[in-house]
Amino acid sequence: MLDSQLSELESRAVSLIDSAPDSDALEKARVEFLGRKGSLATIGKDMGKLAAEDRGRIGKLLNAVKQNLEARYESRQAAFQLGALNSRLAAEWLDLTMPAPGARPGSLHPLTLIQRELEELFTSLGFAVVDGPEVETEWYNFDALNIPPTHPARDAQDTFWLSDGSLLRTHTSPVQVRAMEKFGAPLRIIAPGRVFRNEEVDASHEHTFYQLEGMMIDRDVSIAHMLYFMKSLLTAIFHREATVRLRPGFFPFVEPGFELDIQCLICGGSGCPVCKHSGWVELLPCGLVHPNVLRSGGIDPDQWNGFAFGLGLTRLVMMRYAIDDIRHLAAGDLRFLQQF
Ligand code: PHE
Repeated sequence: MLDSQLSELESRAVSLIDSAPDSDALEKARVEFLGRKGSLATIGKDMGKLAAEDRGRIGKLLNAVKQNLEARYESRQAAFQLGALNSRLAAEWLDLTMPAPGARPGSLHPLTLIQRELEELFTSLGFAVVDGPEVETEWYNFDALNIPPTHPARDAQDTFWLSDGSLLRTHTSPVQVRAMEKFGAPLRIIAPGRVFRNEEVDASHEHTFYQLEGMMIDRDVSIAHMLYFMKSLLTAIFHREATVRLRPGFFPFVEPGFELDIQCLICGGSGCPVCKHSGWVELLPCGLVHPNVLRSGGIDPDQWNGFAFGLGLTRLVMMRYAIDDIRHLAAGDLRFLQQF
C-alpha cells in the first residue's frame, strides 16, 4: 500500500523536477517533496505507526527515493546555475585586449606658445626673463616712469585703482624700474605678463591683455641697436619679412620715442576690424630710455643708456594666427583652443 504510494510520489516528483522550466519552479518542487514539511518528511514521521515487519523495507525505500530526488534536484540546480553564469558571461563580456581610450592631452594656449618663442629668442640674445607684480604702486607704474601726475593715463577711466591706492598695472613698464633696481647696469631683460585697462571690450580691446616689455642698458646704446633687436623679433615671430613703419611716438619714459607699426596680416592692409580699417596695427612702441627713468632705477644716465620696448603680445598673437576677435583668447572655447 505505502510502497505504491511512494513510487507514485517519486514519479510525480521526478517529472516535476526534470521539467522545471526555471530555478523558481525547481525550488517549489524541492519544498514540496524534500522540504522540512514536504511529503517525504511527513511519511518519515509516520514510520513509527508502521508494523515492525514493514518498517525496515519502507525505511529503505524512503531513503532510496530521497536520494534519487536529491540527486536529480542537485543536477538540475547545477544546470540552472551554469546557464545563469553563461548568460552573464555573454552579457557582461569585456574585451581586455581592446586598446584603452588613451590620454587626451591639452594644447598650449596661443599666448603661451608665442611667449615661449619670444623667451627663447631673447634668452639666446643674452636677455633674462623677469617678472613683476600685477598689483602695482603708483610709483612704479607712473612716477618712476616719468609720467607726470596730470597724465590722462592716471585717470580712473583708463586705470583700475584699488581702494588702498595701489592699482592693476596698466603696462609691463614698471618691471623696467624693478629690474634696474635689482640688477643694475648693464642690463638685458624681457618681462612678459598681464596688464589691465579700464576699457570697453570689443573685437580689438580687452580689459586684460598681455605685453612683453624689453629693456637693454649698456654703454652707447643707439637706435640702430634697438632696430636690430626689433627686426630679429618680428622675423622670428612671423617667419617672414613683415612690412613695418616707424613713426615718432610720445611716451614719457622714452626719448626719442617711436611707434613701430606692422601692416595688418589679417587683411593684408586693405582694412578690417582688427586694424580699425587703417591697414596698420600698432605693435611695438619703443625708444631710448629717458634719463629720469634711469635715475628712478638707480642708474647714472651719464654713464649708461639704453632702449626699451613694450610689445603688445596679445595683438602679436592675433596677427600671427589671424585671430579676428580678441575675445576668443579668454573665452575658453575648446573649438578655438584645439586649433593650436
Ligand atoms: N608701456 C607702454 C604702453 O603700454 C609701451 C612702451 C614700452 C613704450 C616701452 C615705449 C617703451 O603703452
